Amino acid sequence: MAPLRITVIGTGYLGATHAAAMAELGFEVLGLDVVPEKIEMLAAGRVPMYEPGLEELLAAHVAGLPGSTGRLRFTRSWEEVGEFGDVHFVCVNTPQKHGEYACDMSYVDSAVESLAPHLARPALVVGKSTVPVGSAERLAAKLAALAPAGADVELAWNPEFLREGFAVQDTLHPDRIVIGTRGERAEKVLREVYERPIAEGSPLVVTDFPTAELVKTAANSFLATKISFINAMAEVCEAAGGDVAKLAEAIGHDERIGSKFLRAGIGFGGGCLPKDIRAFMARAGELGADQALTFLREVDSINMRRRGHMVELAREAVGGAFLGKRVAVLGATFKPDSDDVRDSPALNVAGQIHLQGGQVTVYDPKGMDNARRVFPTLGYAESAVAAARGADVVLHLTEWREFRELDPVELGAVVSDRLLLDGRNALDAGQWRAAGWTYRAMGRPRA
Ligand code: UDX
Repeated sequence: MAPLRITVIGTGYLGATHAAAMAELGFEVLGLDVVPEKIEMLAAGRVPMYEPGLEELLAAHVAGLPGSTGRLRFTRSWEEVGEFGDVHFVCVNTPQKHGEYACDMSYVDSAVESLAPHLARPALVVGKSTVPVGSAERLAAKLAALAPAGADVELAWNPEFLREGFAVQDTLHPDRIVIGTRGERAEKVLREVYERPIAEGSPLVVTDFPTAELVKTAANSFLATKISFINAMAEVCEAAGGDVAKLAEAIGHDERIGSKFLRAGIGFGGGCLPKDIRAFMARAGELGADQALTFLREVDSINMRRRGHMVELAREAVGGAFLGKRVAVLGATFKPDSDDVRDSPALNVAGQIHLQGGQVTVYDPKGMDNARRVFPTLGYAESAVAAARGADVVLHLTEWREFRELDPVELGAVVSDRLLLDGRNALDAGQWRAAGWTYRAMGRPRA
């Protein structure tokens, strides 16, 4: 039997990684995007965002690049995609609707509507985007109505759990593979696609459409809840004089709780957790199950409160008002090893201080271009030391390794006041204090 030919629709964060990973697994892959610049960049082996290891993977497989396997190509033609593929992965994004909690399904709908008329032979369409439960059923009906091959075109749901910064590793060696299907043929095809990770030990969970869709939103809700739980404990620690980092360490030793995702600080952001919990609440409301998820409202508000709390700590540190004060902000991305500033707690804190009259200078190792684009009125500097020059307070808001390796003595020589607020509980307090800094972290006692 000829090896399966795979297409990937939408070559953003998820799609570009998935396409390259499929080529790495040995398949012939055709990626499609409606944005010509994205296609041109990828076809030249360049990645439109910062993701460790992805450029190397593209270089190894994009057709036409010297020494590549040539297994990965890109196109803008739906017709070509329809003719080429046995398996079509839908990887377009599902952002939060403007001014609403619900997620915007228009990219998924339009991808399926554009693809379906070109499906003239048996094929499997696989949804990977994060969608409200019930979408797969609706999209299956749409495919059946629009595809010339009719019932020979099947749908499966196969949510993606990759983390930014670890996208390549998470795609090639997933924690688990979840497949929602209505038939054995789809399962068989996807077992073939994921043969290598399954053989290497990734567990496979086969289920129905709604469960597969829910696994993704449930997992992200759980992670968000864990972070907000520890941040709620940080609030109590601050009130009671406890140390949330020690508390997290101690409860994390209980295997039932686990030590991961218990780092208190300015909370979660990014393109997934915040919008996914909101979309989940909106969907539960439509289903009449809103009471089941009212706790997520609290998870969201604890999270947003952390940003405001950091602004208050900074205001207090500079004497009660920001006007005329210089604030250095280390970090703009929502997490390290990414250039993504979507719903970034760091940039949000920087923006709030700026709007309250502070003179903010931001530095981030990879997120400067994106930060400048979304928040052009903030000040930016080309290094941590340059950002800190003359600062009345330094805020550490994204835990890049580069910041953990900063020399407190060198930084201490350029600031106006050696005052450091660690919004990620990630720096070595002893080292900074030994260099004469006042170091404060969230949810921890003041020395
Ligand atoms: C998340 C999920 O982890 C992933 O499985 C899913 O596919 C997409 O959403 P990602 O958005 O890349 O991935 O980021 P993640 O590593 O989960 O971090 C999310 C946010 O939580 C970041 O802003 C991070 O700084 C914050 N965080 C994480 C904490 O504040 N404390 C922690 O202990 C862990």
